[in-house]
Amino acid sequence: MIIQIMNFHFISIIVATFYQVPEITAFSFNDVRNHLGTRTPYRFKYNKDDSRIIFPGCKDVRIWMIIRHGTRLPSAEDIVGINTLRDMKHEILLSHKKGQGELNSEQLKRFDKWSSNIVVEEEKYLTHEGQDEMILLAERMQKRFPNAIKSKYDNNTFYFKYTATQRAQQSARYFTIGLFEKKNAQTVIFSPANKVDPILRFYKHCDKWQKQVKKNPNTYKEQKLFGDSRTMNDTLEIVSRKLGFDKVLSLDKVNLMYVTCGYETSWLKHYISPWCHGFDKETAEVLEYYHDLKHYWMDSYGHNLTYRQACMAIKTMFEDFKKKNYPHATFLFAHSGTLLKILTHLQLYKPSAPLTADAIDKNRTWRTSDIDCFASNLAFVLYKCEDGDKVLVLHQEKVIKLPMCDHELCPLADLEKHFYESIYNCDYSDMCSLDTTDT
Ligand SMILES: *[C@@H]1O[C@H](CO)[C@@H](O)[C@H](O)[C@H]1NC(C)=O
Ligand SMILES: *[C@@H]1O[C@H](CO)[C@@H](O)[C@H](O)[C@H]1NC(C)=O
Ligand SMILES: *[C@@H]1O[C@H](CO)[C@@H](O)[C@H](O)[C@H]1NC(C)=O
Ligand SMILES: *[C@@H]1O[C@H](CO)[C@@H](O)[C@H](O)[C@H]1NC(C)=O
Repeated sequence: MIIQIMNFHFISIIVATFYQVPEITAFSFNDVRNHLGTRTPYRFKYNKDDSRIIFPGCKDVRIWMIIRHGTRLPSAEDIVGINTLRDMKHEILLSHKKGQGELNSEQLKRFDKWSSNIVVEEEKYLTHEGQDEMILLAERMQKRFPNAIKSKYDNNTFYFKYTATQRAQQSARYFTIGLFEKKNAQTVIFSPANKVDPILRFYKHCDKWQKQVKKNPNTYKEQKLFGDSRTMNDTLEIVSRKLGFDKVLSLDKVNLMYVTCGYETSWLKHYISPWCHGFDKETAEVLEYYHDLKHYWMDSYGHNLTYRQACMAIKTMFEDFKKKNYPHATFLFAHSGTLLKILTHLQLYKPSAPLTADAIDKNRTWRTSDIDCFASNLAFVLYKCEDGDKVLVLHQEKVIKLPMCDHELCPLADLEKHFYESIYNCDYSDMCSLDTTDT
């Protein structure tokens, strides 16, 4: 169903976007597309090398992987917002007729052809691109670890689970299509989705986190400060002038264009969204940072409860590796909020200083465009080696070295020692219940 909708949506604008005429303004699509934050499509980020990962004297025996759903449609709120861009489009075209604005004829043509008619009933549905992301991700992972991920489905060897959402459920389904022959894929058993899922979406029902972090205005302080900053004001002015507006557009409007640029870029491989034309590398980085500030303080290092609660997932991984007669390949389909908190629990991409409104660190590794794009994923692969059990970790399919390990292939016993608290002292109700000391 979603395929039809996406095709319908884009049929009128996909034509005539494949060739590039020399740009008058310095617009390079590549400059913008790498700064789309959590809406960055996975195709710009994954590791293309899918050759088998072999370590002498070792064999890949188990895998435990957690995956953010693939590229999706916007939230209902954003759908309504995007549909209001129709008026903006006409204003942009009109102002350029009057000689204002900095767009060239090719860019204006893209605006002229642009339309949007996504229905709110399909908010957050997985898109066609999201299906592709899952199929191809599954195929590559299987090539890398053919022993841990067998090509024939067996309900004793595989475990699949998703959150109770359309996008996670469809992501799981398309992932299995990538793993198995069609007939085989139809027999896959998915673990029933739970409305309350303390492993895949631990933060959703952590009352203390909801109160102290999610609903705490302090969490959004840096983002708000940055939204009122000189840097942001300059950015709004540059974008407004470029698009031909007399007045400086509000942050809400410019943000909506940025978000739309992100979505439309993620949905179609060969389409250039006109809404990206308002930006260049510099201004896209400003909007990217504006969103990063929110996620950093809400989903990452900003507050220790945020990442401590991720012990729910981490301890499950260690337990699953230990269980006898347990599925050798576990694939869990979840959300950006899950992945970011787990990455933080593992102490990955930790900035040397907290992200603040004061200045953009353009070299930061903590960047949602890289670490939290659509279909972001984290895989733990258990290797049986002559000298013991070891774990290899991959993020976005790239082998990474955990900060607490000496090597990429890390002894399981060392990891268990390091994560002792996470495994044995992960008391969700203790951690998450609101008690009298909380004001
Ligand atoms: C698992 O597969 C076996 C055959 O390999 C079958 O007999 C069994 O019923 C399956 N279990 C479930 C829960 O479907
Ligand atoms: C940026 O613009 C907003 C709204 O016009 C204003 O309130 C704020 O003071 C400006 N910030 C700076 C640093 O000039
Ligand atoms: C978490 O942060 C709170 C307050 O910011 C502090 O009181 C507490 O000791 C910290 N806990 C851990 C385990 O670091
Ligand atoms: C960022 O990295 C580039 C290239 O590695 C380097 O030239 C530059 O000095 C760095 N900037 C900062 C602020 O660290």
